[in-house]
Amino acid sequence: MGAFKILNEEHLLFQQLIARLEHCFHYEEEEARAEFLRLCLVLLPALKRHEEIEDLIFRVPARRRHGGAAPLDLIEEQHRRLAALREELAVVVAAEHEHDFKRLKPLVLGFCEDLRAHFHSEESLLWPRYDQPGRRLEPALDARARLQVRRLKRDIQRTWLASSDYVGQGR
Ligand SMILES: [Fe+2]
Ligand SMILES: [Fe+2]
Repeated sequence: MGAFKILNEEHLLFQQLIARLEHCFHYEEEEARAEFLRLCLVLLPALKRHEEIEDLIFRVPARRRHGGAAPLDLIEEQHRRLAALREELAVVVAAEHEHDFKRLKPLVLGFCEDLRAHFHSEESLLWPRYDQPGRRLEPALDARARLQVRRLKRDIQRTWLASSDYVGQGR
């Protein structure tokens, strides 16, 4: 399985987490806060790793020339914006009890929306540039990317299951 197929699976996992994060606001406050915290604990570090893995794959100068700079610049700009939102959410998570939970809704839903748009940009603009003869990732880079994405998927799944069990107990 090539790196892009695994990256696609990684995106699907993120999509599940995003859907769940958006759904938080349908719960009663106590349950919503617990779910929000657990999702952020899974999602925020996983997204940081997502960006690091993609830096590895796409920021090599030869790749940039190969794939063309325009979509990569867009993706990098999105990563910068998402990193700023991640930081903002991390500050909220660290003092979550001090916040009126409902007032977090615009920040959280905006974050989810940006994430969806970002995944769409990667899948529709960036990745197809590499799915052509003569433009594929070098085998060593492909293997390294596959290994790192596999590890990330495994860690997301483990934490996701643990958080699902925890939240499930309360219902
Ligand atoms: Fe990304
Ligand atoms: Fe991605």
